Formats: sequence, structure tokens, C-alpha cells
Amino acid sequence: MRLTLHVWRQAGPDAPGKMVKYEVPDANPDMSFLELLDVVNERLIEQGEEPIAFEHDCREGICGSCGVMINGQAHGPLPGTTTCQLHLRHFKDGDEIYVEPWRSRAFPVLKDLIVDRSALDRIIQAGGFISVRTGEAPEANSIPVPKEVADEAFDAATCIGCGACVAQCPNGAAQLFTSAKIAHLNMLPQGAVERDARARRMVEQMEAEGFGSCTNYAECEAVCPKGIKIDFIARMNRDYVRAKIRSTGA
Ligand code: FES
Repeated sequence: MRLTLHVWRQAGPDAPGKMVKYEVPDANPDMSFLELLDVVNERLIEQGEEPIAFEHDCREGICGSCGVMINGQAHGPLPGTTTCQLHLRHFKDGDEIYVEPWRSRAFPVLKDLIVDRSALDRIIQAGGFISVRTGEAPEANSIPVPKEVADEAFDAATCIGCGACVAQCPNGAAQLFTSAKIAHLNMLPQGAVERDARARRMVEQMEAEGFGSCTNYAECEAVCPKGIKIDFIARMNRDYVRAKIRSTGA
């Protein structure tokens, strides 16, 4: 199949960027989108040109490192799918495809399609862990956890931190990511000890990082490759308000 790519090229954080056109006359429908970029890069290297910089690791939809805007949509047109798992069979012969880095003030472009997502790491560092000593691993059934709670905590834990939610949000908000990371620990007994501090610190770090505010567009939920629900945002807001009230003694 023949595809025409328009790819955002930017030499560095402060360099001006522009779209550059690449013709791929022989794309295979079974290729993933990242393999398509590999093919373009091999040709660029053969021609002595700089390959397109893009981020990837597992290529199995589990690490969260890949992700680009494809025709204005985070991770492209297929719901519940990361860029590395998106195959060209979902495009038509002759398509023109626009490929850009994640869009967000809090994710500055480092080079071409790679953005700096360390703001998400700093949100995790603010409270996305359990630091209380829990001793030896207890007998598996000694802490009863209702099945529905365990299931919901697991749903939250499937967030791979790719940042698509931020990139697609018209406000550049990180509420879906932060709420999933808070929920998967706050919902379980092991995370309950630090529940208030976690909600407070992670929300306040998120606000300090320059993300926008959530106004319920729900674009984040629509593009999340793991199907994380915006219900977690309501849960995070409840946890945060409760934590603030308790900390002020009101
Ligand atoms: S490369 Fe790991 S999720 Fe795509």
C-alpha cells in the first residue's frame, strides 16, 4: 500500500519545527505504525539523513513509552490501542497521515516526536508508593479485599502512563493519569495508611507541573489505550477534598 506521511521534525527543544513529507510506496498492511517509522528511518539513514526520533520500548502495548498524535488523535484511530500495536491495515491505500508529538505545555518537545514526560514521574514521586513497613509477606487471605474493590483497583493499575490522556485533552489536564495512580493504591488496605497524604501530594504536584484543569471533556477516556474510566477523577476529587478537610481539622 502507498502512504504519504507528514512528520513533525524538530532538531531540539528550542529549534523551530516543521512538518516534513515522506512517501512510502511499499508499506505492508501487517506492519505496525512503529515499523512504518522504522522503514522510513532506514531509508533516511541510507540517504545520509537524520532519522526521525521517536520513543518506544516494549512494542507490546504495556510499557507506555510510545505514543504520537496520528491525524490529530493520540495513538491513532483505533480505540484501546497503543501506537506500537496499531497496524497499517487500519489505514487505506493512498492515505495521507499526519504524525506529531504529544501536545501539551507540560510535555515540551525534546526532538521530533519525543516529548519530556518527566512531569508524570514527579507526580508518582510525590506519593505514588507505599512506604509503611509491612513486614514479611502475609498469608494471602489474611487481608480480605472485596472482589469488586480488587477489580476496580486493578482497572486503575492498568494505566501505563503513556500520557495520551494529557495529549488529547483540550485543557492539557493530567487528571486521568493522576487519579488512576492514586486510586490503585488508595482503594486497597495496604495503601490506606497514606491515603490522605498521597491524594494531597499527588494532586498538588500535578497542579505545580503546569497541566491544565479537567472540565470533563472525557477525551482522555476516549483515547486511553487501557480504557481507564473518568470515574477515577471523581474518586480522586473526593479523596483530595477529604484529605484537605482532615488536614485543616475543619
Ligand atoms: S512501545 Fe511499549 S506500549 Fe508501545
